[in-house]
Amino acid sequence: MKTIALNPSLSVSHIIQGMMNVTRERFSPKEVMELITHRLDHGITTFDTAQIYGLGDNEKLIGEALNLNPALKQSTTWITKMGINYPKHPSDIWHYDTRYQTIIHSCEASLNHLGLKHIDVYLIHREDPLMDHESCAKALDECVDRGYIRSYGVSNFDPIKFETLQSHTQRPLITNQIEYHLDCFEHIDNGNFDLFQKHRIHPLIWSPLAQGRLMQSQDLEYQKLRETVLDLADKYHLSPEGIALAFVMHHPSQPVPIIGTTQASRCEHLIESTNIILDHQDWYKLYTAHPQRRLR
Ligand SMILES: NC(=O)c1ccc[n+]([C@@H]2O[C@H](COP(=O)([O-])OP(=O)(O)OC[C@H]3O[C@@H](n4cnc5c(N)ncnc54)[C@H](OP(=O)(O)O)[C@@H]3O)[C@@H](O)[C@H]2O)c1
Repeated sequence: MKTIALNPSLSVSHIIQGMMNVTRERFSPKEVMELITHRLDHGITTFDTAQIYGLGDNEKLIGEALNLNPALKQSTTWITKMGINYPKHPSDIWHYDTRYQTIIHSCEASLNHLGLKHIDVYLIHREDPLMDHESCAKALDECVDRGYIRSYGVSNFDPIKFETLQSHTQRPLITNQIEYHLDCFEHIDNGNFDLFQKHRIHPLIWSPLAQGRLMQSQDLEYQKLRETVLDLADKYHLSPEGIALAFVMHHPSQPVPIIGTTQASRCEHLIESTNIILDHQDWYKLYTAHPQRRLR
């Protein structure tokens, strides 16, 4: 599988494995270790997690899995995210926290849980309405200077928030991890995909299969959308999921999808999509396949 350079010294595999679902599926450390090994055997070397997944347990589970075979730490690249806090005491509520000390402490906690010497890509998970861009940027640079992280970026940021944070950081934001699939065009519509090309960055795409809804939902709109997907799956000799992934990767900004499957066979079918290039008009057939999507 080819790699995509996020900056001159950091590349990721063309498909990234998302780890969010391994805690939901109650994987054991051994099962997580086997999943990582399987993905490496198939060319997927980059993995995505977040401090909030499994309410903090996801990073710990991954750390336990990596400790079963520490050699895996050398052959893998890790992305994690910070900034979403769940209630830990009865008087707490869900909230975001991107303050200076929280970023430093969260980064230290993630390193500790994952058992890594450094985190390759460290992201602010969500737009924080109380973000002090200057001190957030200072904390991210401090994490690089201390050797905690190799690069930093954001997730779910709109263009103005991306540019504002970037105006305060010493280094470029390496990416923006966003939702994009056959039923989500928010970041095409809000100009983010244009901004990616302006800054020559590759977005990382979460939920490229809409969390499985593309194939499973019984909603009439999804049934209509699936007709187009199935037609093209037939034409390109790919699985329907492979067509959905090929659609996501087709954009000129060269998006990198983060797949969420925990199943080896589904993953192997998805990898086949890296070998095909959609015809221009076929991409538009998919773009307009959802009954509520029209060309503007
Ligand atoms: N930055 C953010 O805010 C954010 C938000 C959400 C997620 N993420 C990241 O993105 C990664 C991927 O997200 P995702 O899990 O939503 O990705 P996804 O690839 O869109 O969805 C994967 C889910 O869909 C199911 N699925 C796929 N095809 C299916 C089919 N034909 N029939 C039934 N089920 C099917 C999978 O089940 P099986 O396991 O059975 O295949 C799995 O539960 C996460 O692991 C996380 O790392 C980031």
